[in-house]
This record gives sequence, structure tokens and C-alpha cells, in this order.
Amino acid sequence: MVDLRSDTVTRPTREMRRILAEAEVGDDVFGDDPTVHRLEEEVAALLGHEAALFVPSGTMSNAVAVAAHTRPGDEVLLEETAHIFQYEGGGSAALSGVQLWPIRSDTGLPDPRDVSARVRPLGDPHFPISRLLCLENTHNRAGGRVLPMDGFRSVIETARSHGLAVHLDGARLWNAAVASGRPESDYATLCDSVSVCFSKGLGAPVGSAFVGSKELVDRGRLIRKRLGGGMRQVGILAAAALHAVHHHRTRLAEDHARARRLAEGISELAGLDVKLDSVETNIVVAEVVRGTRDFWLRELRERNVWAVGFGGNGVRFVTHLDVDDAGIDLALDALRSIEPE
Ligand SMILES: Cc1ncc(COP(=O)(O)O)c(C=O)c1O
Repeated sequence: MVDLRSDTVTRPTREMRRILAEAEVGDDVFGDDPTVHRLEEEVAALLGHEAALFVPSGTMSNAVAVAAHTRPGDEVLLEETAHIFQYEGGGSAALSGVQLWPIRSDTGLPDPRDVSARVRPLGDPHFPISRLLCLENTHNRAGGRVLPMDGFRSVIETARSHGLAVHLDGARLWNAAVASGRPESDYATLCDSVSVCFSKGLGAPVGSAFVGSKELVDRGRLIRKRLGGGMRQVGILAAAALHAVHHHRTRLAEDHARARRLAEGISELAGLDVKLDSVETNIVVAEVVRGTRDFWLRELRERNVWAVGFGGNGVRFVTHLDVDDAGIDLALDALRSIEPE
């Protein structure tokens, strides 16, 4: 079978299991875990920031970010299909007491004019305080698109000109770096904080990092503790994450090439539609044009190909460390053999 539901489904490699078994550990809540320190230092340096904090998930990393930048009652601007708005259980409202104001966009990147138009006047007690802009790169719901650097820079400059801080949900920033040929720090240093995940394309079993200035990350450490995310001998997981950062970044290009081959095959089918120019990394979103989405998902599953429903009427396929060329062949053969009504 081939599991194309998400890049989160990878199993730790044999080498990764060996490394995590041998990891040097300590109690990280006491600040004693040397492997966690190494991971945090390396990731902060890689992204061009002062400090990093190892957290259990991308969702917690974003929750820490929103809480660290805001106070209850503040307003946060973000694109309307952003992961923080769509898929984090309403955490920003529940945990930070902030109000999210989503902005529509076709590409995942908000237009600077829409950001400006939503910034509230200061000093009028009718209004919440506009505090933070959240961006996402690569953008999951936009089909893994890489935010173009010019637009990215320009929306950040606009946000800053209004006094907003900027947080980047970079769960797949590694993919954006490989696809654009730019180092991760090109994007990361433009933002006040960044969240990166080790458990997606990089293939580690668990973990993300919240990255920013030392002051912000210290505040994040308190928030992580409040959320129950302080972990003890977590160097075993940090070791897997370090291994993934060292050895699984450049190979993301293989995932991107396989996603493209899959998308090209899908584009020849009558029953599914895929916008080839939107396939820039490891995510392929196909819109159902014949049959129903449930039909496609069921027929694929019967042929040992796993995908997920996505957005309005889409089917999402994601390539990753555990998908090889034979997996793409299996998926294409299955797709070609399905005949919708
Ligand atoms: C863009 C983005 N941000 C954040 C997350 C959350 O990560 P986690 O599943 O580790 O909580 C995901 C998960 O897929 C994601 O795609």
C-alpha cells in the first residue's frame, strides 16, 4: 500500500531508532538535557534567530507563539485557510483569548492592502488592539505553495509599519527552502517568531520548535509549561529531530519530484483536476470533477492507496520519506483504473 494522507505518517528510520536509543538525556524541565540544548541551538542558528524551544507539536508551537505575542482581547490577522485558523481546535481563542480576523486570498498570502485595511485605530476603546500577523510557508491549504519572497517581504513590511509583530507557521519551511533554493533563514529572519516541525517532511516521530529572540523564547518557555508541554528526558526525541535536520532536509527535493510526477499523471485524468503550477512542493490537491469525493477515496483505498479529503471538494496526496517511486506507480495505476460515473 501507499499512504499519501500526510507527511506526518512516516515511521522513524532504522538509523533514527538507533540514534534515539543512544541519546544523551537529562531532565529538560530543569534545563539538564544536553541533546535538547543542541537541537535548540542548532535550529535557532539555522533560522538566524537567538533562541529556540523544543515543543511536542506544531499546534503547541503556534499556540505558544500566539500567547507570547498577545494579551487577551487582542486581534490577530491571518489568511483564512491558515492552519492556525482552520485546524487548531480554536486554540487561539480558547488558550490566548484573542480574536482572529481572517483575510481571504487565493494563494495563501494575504494582500498587504487587506492587512492595512484591518488594522484598528489606536486609542479608541471600541476596538481591539491589532497585535500580530500570522503567515504560513509552505501553505498547506494552498497545496503546499511557497510564498513568493517579494510578496512575503511586502506584507511583513506593511504589518510592521502598523506596529504588528509577525509569526511564521513554518511547519514545512524546510520544503519552502528546498523548492525556492533559499536558506530557511531568508524567510525566518524577516519574522519575529517561527514555528518549524520535525515530524512532517523531515520524518522525525515527534516535535517542533518555537524560534525567536531570547526574550520571546523565555516567555514561550513559561507558556509551554502552562500548557503541560514541559518534557523530561526528551533528548530521545530531540536526537531524532537533530538527525532529521542533518540528514533529511535536502532529500525533500525527491518528495517534490514525486509529487510533480503524481500531479502530471492526475492532470491526464478526466475525473480529477489539478492545477500543475500550484504543485511546488510535496502536496498535490486534486479537485473532483466526476464522481464524488467519497467515491474516489473509497476506490483508492480498495486499491491500497490512501489519501484524504481536503477543502471543499479536493483530495489531498502528500509525498514523504516513506513513499518511493513504486508508491507513485501504485497510486497512478490505481487512479487510472478508477472509472467515475
Ligand atoms: C501548516 C501546519 N501548521 C501546523 C501544523 C500542526 O502540526 P502538529 O500536527 O504537529 O500539531 C500542521 C499539521 O499538519 C500544518 O500543516
